[in-house]
Amino acid sequence: MKELRVGMIGYGFMGRAHSNAYKRLTDFFPVNHRPVLKAACARNKEKAEAFAKVWGYERIETDWKALVAADDIDLIDIGSPNNTHLEIALAAAKAGKMVLCEKPLAMSVKEAEKMVAAVEKYKVPNMVWFNYRRVPAIALAKQIIDEGRVGRAFHYRATYLQDWTIAEDVPQGGPGLWRLDASVAGSGVTGDLLAHSIDTAMWLNGPITRVVAKTETFVKERLHVETRKKQKVTIDDACMFLAEFANGSIGTFESTRYARGRKNFNTFEMNGADGSVYFDLEEPEYLQYFEYKQNQSGKKVESHLTGWRKIHTTNSEHPYMNRYWVPGTCIGYEHTFLNALADFVMGIESGKPTQPDFRCALQTQKVCDAVLKSARSGKWTATGAK
Ligand SMILES: NC(=O)c1ccc[n+]([C@@H]2O[C@H](COP(=O)([O-])OP(=O)(O)OC[C@H]3O[C@@H](n4cnc5c(N)ncnc54)[C@H](O)[C@@H]3O)[C@@H](O)[C@H]2O)c1
Repeated sequence: MKELRVGMIGYGFMGRAHSNAYKRLTDFFPVNHRPVLKAACARNKEKAEAFAKVWGYERIETDWKALVAADDIDLIDIGSPNNTHLEIALAAAKAGKMVLCEKPLAMSVKEAEKMVAAVEKYKVPNMVWFNYRRVPAIALAKQIIDEGRVGRAFHYRATYLQDWTIAEDVPQGGPGLWRLDASVAGSGVTGDLLAHSIDTAMWLNGPITRVVAKTETFVKERLHVETRKKQKVTIDDACMFLAEFANGSIGTFESTRYARGRKNFNTFEMNGADGSVYFDLEEPEYLQYFEYKQNQSGKKVESHLTGWRKIHTTNSEHPYMNRYWVPGTCIGYEHTFLNALADFVMGIESGKPTQPDFRCALQTQKVCDAVLKSARSGKWTATGAK
């Protein structure tokens, strides 16, 4: 077994999700690399130490530059806010480290292009943690679509809804609330939530070529945690956009943090000539599939038995599931990161890089930027994809 010595940046939500994946990788996947939790990095020494103790990191760093420069680190994992991704990724690539980066890849296309150029120049393995691709039911949707069972695509429909910023007294900025501060997050729901929906959509249904968008910021001013002053809110609280795909199908995407009662409501449906698929993250182990059946003479027909089928994606035939438990038993949110890491490591071992790499995530960034640009201009905006 080769060691894969990990330097984890950030001890927050993703710091925990990724650390769990490193710890469990060799328990579930037959890989030849064993992650070693070498160092955790965050600016607050006490908190970084507490995190390192819980997850078993050998040491901490309080400056990511020291982590990137360290000789005993093979892989830099960027689990810190969006405005840190560019600088850390450039330095890590230059230092010859593998780079795993959280989504959205960057604050803008301009930044993302620099990141792609760096990992390609220094030829370092890289991946962006678009973990929803690794939900077995979503990976099954990909398989069903690739097998031609949905047929010619007509519609793609995605929603990603939350409700945690409705109260006007939720402040912006600082630890935990950086997502409301555009100077740290880049954008609001577009980069945070729709980036996931866009990545999944383009993985399943191909490139998005044009968009027209409407964004809204419902609470115009919020107290800023760092300045202690009321400041203008410049993130998008909600975003809806129409999309055209290169294959001729059309899509709708909706995201908000103002959908009362919706905590992390992430769904998609795709409708084609021969079938449809539907996924809802609140029932993550199910994929719904409608098959427009052929009769014995090969003609497509509906019958009294026609209907949606709800596939419990827990059989060993389903993506990733032969690595876990017996059929009928589920896995959870944390396994999407474990599956992503396994794919990344198997990509290194096979020499066939795993997607989405930085170049692939750049395409999602282009759609996000086009969405925000369209929301400002009110016009259809090209993404650059054909
Ligand atoms: N893949 C997903 O589903 C998913 C889910 C949540 C967040 N994310 C992404 O992960 C990243 C982190 O989000 P989070 O929810 O874990 O945030 P968080 O606020 O929970 O944690 C951020 C961490 O970064 C650290 N940090 C901030 N600035 C730093 C710096 N300059 N140097 C070192 N450490 C620094 C903080 O101390 C904290 O530990 C973001 O890019 C976010 O968009 C992805």
